[in-house]
Amino acid sequence: MTTSMTTPADALSRLADGYLATQLLYVAVELRLPESLAGPPRRADELAAEVGADPAVLRRVLRGLAAEGVLEELADGRFALTAVGELLDADHPSSMRGAVRARGGLYYTALAGLLPATRTGGTPFELAHGRPFFAHLAAHPEQGAAFQASMVARSRREAAGVVAAYDFSRFATLVDVGGGPGLLLAAVLAANPGLTGTLFDRPEVVAGAELPHVGGDFFAQVPPGADAYLLSRVIHDWDDAEATAILRTCRRAMPDTATLLLVEALLPERAAQDPAAVRMDLHMLALLHGRERTRREYAELLAAAGLRLVRVVATGAGVHVIEACPEP
Ligand SMILES: C[S@@+](CC[C@H](N)C(=O)[O-])C[C@H]1O[C@@H](n2cnc3c(N)ncnc32)[C@H](O)[C@@H]1O
Repeated sequence: MTTSMTTPADALSRLADGYLATQLLYVAVELRLPESLAGPPRRADELAAEVGADPAVLRRVLRGLAAEGVLEELADGRFALTAVGELLDADHPSSMRGAVRARGGLYYTALAGLLPATRTGGTPFELAHGRPFFAHLAAHPEQGAAFQASMVARSRREAAGVVAAYDFSRFATLVDVGGGPGLLLAAVLAANPGLTGTLFDRPEVVAGAELPHVGGDFFAQVPPGADAYLLSRVIHDWDDAEATAILRTCRRAMPDTATLLLVEALLPERAAQDPAAVRMDLHMLALLHGRERTRREYAELLAAAGLRLVRVVATGAGVHVIEACPEP
């Protein structure tokens, strides 16, 4: 018998079994099951032969994915992708493959450090792996590539939302500070032909960029004199002291008439108002020394760097554009 009522015990069971869902999705993308299922429905033994898996175990994994709504199990025992499962396909325009790989591999093991970090403070990733996140990525290039891939997909989604929601046309020059591979800057420039943009990031990151770029350290100096300074998903990587230092560097470079734009998720005052933003804060806690912040916390951070929060524009892509100007 099925019922639409969820008991507290059912709800708790699903939460406690979350570890299964993360790993079922991880197995699916590592074995490239979504790509193998892109055509007609397939049987478990056919798929096992194709992807190099144990047929009996794979069938149970496929049924697990079907129970979660990622696959559909047909009456004849074959499996097909659902609309949810299609998002795991590397070729899907909104593919979430990178995000799933990062969670199932890197992030999953980092969470083993959450209990000790909660007791004593510290970063779960470092407690679990014995070294900082980026040092670990440097030592494991395949995990570094998976992490970058998850960033690219997120950045592309967010860039489309930012460009649609915020009018950059009043600026003539813009610096994308910590712009990474420049996906957001490229999208902003494509939508605003009158705008000239400079990508600023660490020298090794911008070295091969096609966009005009400057390499450097945003704790020391960023290119001066632009109309607008954009920092997308940069400030959330840092604690308050470091974040204030980055903003002060930008303030020093800004003419008094310039605008500073942060692209960040905003933490709600109460967790239930935006669970996805709260989960992102936990990713930052688990992996780095960073944190997501509320609107009030961003206003305080900006004020500490001589900047005033002017307005916040929602993008519908999980991030907001936080506009600030120099405090006279
Ligand atoms: C989370 S990524 C954000 C990338 C991009 N803005 C986006 O929205 O996807 C943070 C960026 O800060 C850059 N970064 C870190 N430390 C830096 C430093 N000291 N100076 C300049 N850039 C730095 C990193 O290389 C990385 O590209």
